[in-house]
Amino acid sequence: MRTQVGIIGAGPAGLLLSRLLALQGIDSVVLENRSREYVEARVRAGILEQNTVDVLTEAGMGDRLHREGLEHRGIHLQYPGVRHQLDFPALCGRRVWVYGQTEVVKDLVAAQLAGGPPLLFDVSDVAVEDVDTDSPRIRFTDADGVARVLECDVVAGTDGFHGPSRAVVAEGGSGQQLWERTYPYAWLGILADAPPATDELIYAWHPDGFALYSMRSPSVSRLYLQVDPSERIEDWSDDRIWEGLATRFALDGWELSTGRITEKSILPMRSFVSAPMRRGRLFLAGDAAHIVPPTGAKGLNLAVADVVLLSRALVRLLQDKETDLADAYSDTALRRVWRATHFSWWMTSMLHTSGDAFDAQLQLSQLRRVCSSEAAARELAENYTGLPY
Ligand code: FAD
Ligand code: DHB
Repeated sequence: MRTQVGIIGAGPAGLLLSRLLALQGIDSVVLENRSREYVEARVRAGILEQNTVDVLTEAGMGDRLHREGLEHRGIHLQYPGVRHQLDFPALCGRRVWVYGQTEVVKDLVAAQLAGGPPLLFDVSDVAVEDVDTDSPRIRFTDADGVARVLECDVVAGTDGFHGPSRAVVAEGGSGQQLWERTYPYAWLGILADAPPATDELIYAWHPDGFALYSMRSPSVSRLYLQVDPSERIEDWSDDRIWEGLATRFALDGWELSTGRITEKSILPMRSFVSAPMRRGRLFLAGDAAHIVPPTGAKGLNLAVADVVLLSRALVRLLQDKETDLADAYSDTALRRVWRATHFSWWMTSMLHTSGDAFDAQLQLSQLRRVCSSEAAARELAENYTGLPY
């Protein structure tokens, strides 16, 4: 088997890269070690930046997004006694959309299977070779158990945080640098068949811990509670979760709407950056190279930003035979990665309680500042809606 770009991983990064390359006449093959059902059902991010919506729309992936996605003009910041709306269009002329990562992935998979480049699910034993030459290859076992070799001009490692590609970069001679921060918090996330009791997301600071009110549709709410990372989901009954949410979102004259919980899990929170995002003909994009804590909803959007940059670099490399954009890819991508890393760390630090009384006063002071100063609010709004590419 031969292709121009071998893509490892059919998450949003790999699928979108394949689509953007196809639109430019570059062929690719996407290899995914999970099943289609698993990939399409994995509940993750829910907020798309304006940039992400623009890219998906231009790539012909905007029909259902514009029909079913919820356009939001802002978010609410809450602390005891106060719920304050930040109006993004007024602050920075941009907005965000609620459209689940599951839906983005379903749209991309459907387009790919309807005449797009090959997409192979349920592969195993993926191994990348010869990335320091101009003809790298990927060895893998296909869904029928047959050992195969994919000869490529370039390999894209879009295989998420646990995929094999990052280690291949690390084994290169140019050295790898890692930065990591694990946070002493986790998020307990639920999906519930409950109409959202809010028009826009609520990021709530509370002495018991942070809570986030998000949604997936007019009838499905997505809610999160800050919990200790050592907590076990079995110890959180539905009643205990609803009580925790009601306490943390409490506001005079407002009521939480409850419903059947259809999914619940606990997510660890970490920041992680690995550089460079390239070794020879292997390029990393998305969670394969970096992780942000979820506060601020940057993970998926950052993966899309990487892929936009990488697709341009690969078109230039493979069609024009020019290496300038490929050579600049890692440094250029990492500048945006570090901005998002800072913003996600800042949102996380402002909103999650540690039990320390001094920290709590600093957080409340910062929240009052963002809710009273246009300059402070604009800084949040610009980062949240996504800085222009
Ligand atoms: P992924 O979506 O991880 O895709 C990588 C793909 O590679 C996967 O399909 C995987 O199965 C495949 N793969 C892995 N190893 C191999 C292999 N050996 N061979 C072949 N394929 C392989 N971000 C937010 O903004 N908000 C959120 O609420 C949020 N919640 C999250 C919850 C969880 C549990 C996780 C893990 C992440 C969450 N994120 C969230 C982050 C966001 O989902 C990611 O940033 C986004 O999925 C990155 O896309 P990606 O394509 O780079 O990686
Ligand atoms: C969602 C997740 C986030 O991390 C966030 O900041 C906002 C919304 C969500 O899953 O809907």
